[in-house]
Amino acid sequence: MRLPNWVFVVGLLGASTLTSFSAQAEQAGGVLNGNTTGNNELLTWARSQVSKARGMLVVQQLDNGAIIASPSTRDPDYYYHWTRDAALVMTAQLTDLLASTPRGSAEPLLGRIGKYLSFSEQTQESPNRSGGTEGWYNLGEPKFYVDGRGFDGDWGRPQSDGPALRAILILKVLEQAEIDQEFSQLISRLGMRPTMDTVLRRDLEYVAMRWRESSFDLWEEVRGAHFYNRLVQYRALAKGQAYFRTAEGRSLSTAYGDGARAIAQTLERHWSPERGYLLTTLDRDGGVDYKAANLDAAIVLAALHAADSKDAFFGPSDDKVLATATKLADTFAALYPINRNTRDPSGQEMLPGIGRYPEDRYDGVGFSGGHPWFITTLALAELNYRVASELEKSSKWILNEKHLAFFARHAPRSMAALSKGATVSGQSAIAKKLASELRAHGDQYLARVRYHTARDGAMSEQFNRYDGFMRGARDLTWSYAALLTAVAARH
Ligand code: NOJ
Ligand code: NOJ
Repeated sequence: MRLPNWVFVVGLLGASTLTSFSAQAEQAGGVLNGNTTGNNELLTWARSQVSKARGMLVVQQLDNGAIIASPSTRDPDYYYHWTRDAALVMTAQLTDLLASTPRGSAEPLLGRIGKYLSFSEQTQESPNRSGGTEGWYNLGEPKFYVDGRGFDGDWGRPQSDGPALRAILILKVLEQAEIDQEFSQLISRLGMRPTMDTVLRRDLEYVAMRWRESSFDLWEEVRGAHFYNRLVQYRALAKGQAYFRTAEGRSLSTAYGDGARAIAQTLERHWSPERGYLLTTLDRDGGVDYKAANLDAAIVLAALHAADSKDAFFGPSDDKVLATATKLADTFAALYPINRNTRDPSGQEMLPGIGRYPEDRYDGVGFSGGHPWFITTLALAELNYRVASELEKSSKWILNEKHLAFFARHAPRSMAALSKGATVSGQSAIAKKLASELRAHGDQYLARVRYHTARDGAMSEQFNRYDGFMRGARDLTWSYAALLTAVAARH
């Protein structure tokens, strides 16, 4: 269905009045202190939005440690603790803290992580509709009532990504504690170690035992083998292997290493040379059957959520990930009418709002058709920022046609100096030029997000593909988390 053009135009005017261009010059604890060249007005907005997001993530955690996906209790009812959302939300706060200079005290965040892990430990101990505690089938439950009981209704279950994401978070905290006195002292003083250890061991055991089994995807719709789930499972086990490489845990370490290697092989199968992008699902055996393109922003989310500075495997700069991101940007630019508007009222250029996948029907409440989402649009911003930094840090980067296609879209002015097979080294002038152009393009995704965000900084789940107004669950906790990690990557 396409609305007449005047609806589109009126809608755009409406959306622009929602946006604040007079953002307060609020301090945001030092983020964005590095590369502040570029659009100062946009960066000022980003700073105030970071403060908003930090505040929302704090209030959307309940006293018992549960994290609500949104305060919305009907149309849609998102007043639940999702294993996936919660792990991502806590990880985003850690990323934000570690990226801030000067860094604030870690105590409030570690306190929140401690409560979240106590709540998680409790959810791990009861059977639910995903299964019993024997063999940890119950860890595949995606959604919990805020009192910790597994959701009773029908749902797309099991979902195997949540425990892996939680394990990654715990391992990141433990890694930080190894190099950071404040972290290690606080963890001891707050008495967090036993809970961290218990939750981590269960999560890794679940991943190591069950990763081969069919699961619903992160959008809770398709059952099969998913790139997203497998990549975060790979990362959890690879990190687990490194962490348990001590006398006490040597056999665990070996088992996790074997698991990670086996998962890595299955991930390679997702590349389609014919289509030129990574397929999101293989071996579908249930759930929705209309994802003909098998193209999904989940690939970019996977690269971001599983990123590790010491291991580039399917990381943000991977050529196949970049090829998929290029395809996503082109597809959604053409698909959503709102993306025809490429400048906001201040004249700032905007890149397209990105949806979950082109055939999406979920409108945030019912099934009238898909829309762009904040988390996926912010993922493209973050990807550009991360590629820029990795490029500057790399010793050498040999360009192939997949990189070039990504740069053609996201750094067109640098293209003349680039050719297939050329080597770009991090300190060269062309690397710097490319990096700054990529950052500018990341900013254009951020500008897209600003355009559809409410004046008070509120961010829901989606924004309308025709008129740009927000829709779906209000104050989606994950949207704020995605804003924090995107901005943290802009250094
Ligand atoms: C709610 C899920 O969370 C959403 O991702 C999905 O599209 C709909 N249910 C339909 O299954
Ligand atoms: C729907 C999304 O598809 C899913 O990924 C998310 O976990 C839930 N909403 C809760 O935010």
